[in-house]
Amino acid sequence: MTNFDFYAPTYFAFGKDKENEAGKLVKRFGGSKVLIHFGGGSVVRSGLLDRVKKSLEAEAIPYIELGGVMPNPRSGLVYQGIDLCRKEGVDFILAVGGGSTIDSSKAIAAGVVYDGDFWDFYLGKPVTKALPIGTVLTIAAAGSEGSPDSVITLEDGMLKRGASGEAYRPKFSILNPALTQTLPPYQTACGITDIICHLYERYLTNTPDVETTDRMIEGLILAMITEGPKVMKNPDDYEARANIMWAGMMAHNNSCGVGRSQDWTSHNLEHELSAKYDCAHGAGLAVAMPAVFKYTMKHDVNRFAKIAVRVWGCQMDFENPETTALQGIERLKQFLISIGMPVTFAQLGAKAEDIPELAHKVLVHGDEVNDTLWGFTQMSKDDIVKIYELML
Ligand code: NZQ
Ligand code: ZN
Repeated sequence: MTNFDFYAPTYFAFGKDKENEAGKLVKRFGGSKVLIHFGGGSVVRSGLLDRVKKSLEAEAIPYIELGGVMPNPRSGLVYQGIDLCRKEGVDFILAVGGGSTIDSSKAIAAGVVYDGDFWDFYLGKPVTKALPIGTVLTIAAAGSEGSPDSVITLEDGMLKRGASGEAYRPKFSILNPALTQTLPPYQTACGITDIICHLYERYLTNTPDVETTDRMIEGLILAMITEGPKVMKNPDDYEARANIMWAGMMAHNNSCGVGRSQDWTSHNLEHELSAKYDCAHGAGLAVAMPAVFKYTMKHDVNRFAKIAVRVWGCQMDFENPETTALQGIERLKQFLISIGMPVTFAQLGAKAEDIPELAHKVLVHGDEVNDTLWGFTQMSKDDIVKIYELML
């Protein structure tokens, strides 16, 4: 295990009706004027937004609202949010929604206290200062409720990029699993897929002797394999929703990723898919993961065989571990299909003729084009093209 510092001070309020504590938590973490940021309307329709507003009113905390965050959130609304917060003297941002709303809130929070263009952070500048953020989560998926990350799409060029920094960790996150019961089945499945991918991205490591985090990852994926089908069958299964919601946080606040190198190839290739075709992030990952894993498997067959045996119930073929490794990838793919995920380019609406452009964009970093994508393995543009071709 490598050395690490880990400081993840988000306060979690978990369970039924916890959204009614939003006002108290904003006060506890020093907010005196709030921007409530939300998405395309699900929180209005469910009545959640009204309950959150009431809890702020009960604490006499003034607020303004900005809705309209789209899935795969865009830079335009971030610029609008920054202007609004400055004009109104906002000192706390409350995200009510999914990963997209939380990520847009984080970008606004950093932009308000920064003299330059907020996009600098999405070109690699670490986020060291931001307004405090709180979240009321409505979908178990991205893990942004506990992560120091945010992903935004720059409309000029449709580049989807991430920014990171400890200032992006929410001060508090309210996780009421019942709020996820209104999700369409497809979004529920996209969330489960994203959670599984966050775990795989950490499992695929070049660091030896990381049994504790390996076991945590395996345990969380196993939980998704049992709890996922329960919510797909019965969307009102509160207990299964609760297990998935906490797993979504655990999968991505990096408690499973400390002290080990990580991969992120599937995410890097997926971000170009959701930037170009505006597909759901989880759906793009379902297409990307089996292809990435098949392509990189030879780099460490035993690691893929280990997860195949421990998580996917495969029998170890000691003569030919590659067979076991491949079986594990196939079982993952079949699981994704069983919860209704796409697994091919065509199912996603992606096009073979776009592959050269997608592969090029994976390597674009600001004004530069890198030669290599670093992860579990080292990838050239040619490798990336071949992986996209495996998704056809
Ligand atoms: O916009 P509304 O109307 O709220 O509808 C949303 C949206 O259409 C809907 N939804 C959410 N909760 C609902 C609901 N509908 C009914 N009932 C509910 N309770 O679901 C749709 C998807 O929402 P979104 O916020 O986009 O989902 P998700 O949480 O999967 O976020 C995806 C974004 O997060 C990024 C992705 O790239 C993508 O842009 N990621 C962020 C990460 C991070 N910050 O750490 C890491 C991830 O790897 C990921 O890249
Ligand atoms: Zn993800």
